[in-house]
Amino acid sequence: MEFAEELGFLKEQVLFKGKIDAGRRFRNVVIAGMGGSGIVGKIFSEIYTEKPVTLIDGYSVPAHLSRDTLFVAVSYSGNTEETIKAAERAMQKGCRVVTISSGGELGDYGDQNIHIPRSDLQPRSAIGYMLMPFMEGFGLVDAADIKEAHKVVESLDHNNQECFAHAKRISRNKKIPVVYGAYPFSSVAYRWKTQFNENAKVIAYCSSFPELNHNDTMALAETYRKDEFYIMVFDSDRKEIKKRIAITSRLTQTKFNFIEFKGKSLAARLFYMIHYGDYLSYHLGKMRGVDPTDVRLIEELKKAL
Ligand code: F6R
Repeated sequence: MEFAEELGFLKEQVLFKGKIDAGRRFRNVVIAGMGGSGIVGKIFSEIYTEKPVTLIDGYSVPAHLSRDTLFVAVSYSGNTEETIKAAERAMQKGCRVVTISSGGELGDYGDQNIHIPRSDLQPRSAIGYMLMPFMEGFGLVDAADIKEAHKVVESLDHNNQECFAHAKRISRNKKIPVVYGAYPFSSVAYRWKTQFNENAKVIAYCSSFPELNHNDTMALAETYRKDEFYIMVFDSDRKEIKKRIAITSRLTQTKFNFIEFKGKSLAARLFYMIHYGDYLSYHLGKMRGVDPTDVRLIEELKKAL
């Protein structure tokens, strides 16, 4: 399957009905996942505020895991070493363990397995399958939101000229993509960074407002080779963030390339911005003459461990 076709499959994924079943009462949520699977924990932890959420992206697990913990292990392949180890520890500690995978070792592990119906995608292209069970399970979407999310995602494809133009400006001048987001989409800025890494094979950077006003702001004015950065900023609805963006741009003499959201609901805006970054990084990869699907070195590294 051509990668653009694979990306276009996101619109079907937002309709996925998989749903985390919290089972008994829980006090906190712990989510384990790496790379293209780990990102869903980051996104969820930014939009879910009812109970504490801890993310695991490595081997060590927090000491507070207990019977009161709802533990979710997310791994598209179901075979990621760090995530399996964390799930095993969670089982030992008596947590309720939910796994989200297309099979592999985690495919029938734990108290509930949410089975992703396709195993032929790149993990990072299955973000809808892995995120929707959180959105559905924790009541973060209703039917109207899903309908809108489907519609805005469908409105984007690899022919989108705006995505193409941003990619062209980055590739023509061999710039380094810098992505700035803001709550509740800081994690989407991170998703873009990782998509630039994997699809376009470039080092990229991300941060978010207002945090970057306490560090990056100095560097924006005076760093080395500032003109080698291509800085994209997600437009914000919040007055205080808008003001910060404008002042930062003026004080640091930095041109920001604004990326506009589409949609009203959180789900629509979230998936739209995720998808926009998918195509932008896809085009950049194509323009650089690299294969967006190639993750050979990541796989070799896993084997070598
Ligand atoms: C590859 C990719 C990687 C994987 C990561 C973890 O497309 O995106 O970042 O997601 O190596 O593997 P899984 O997702 O199978 O647990």
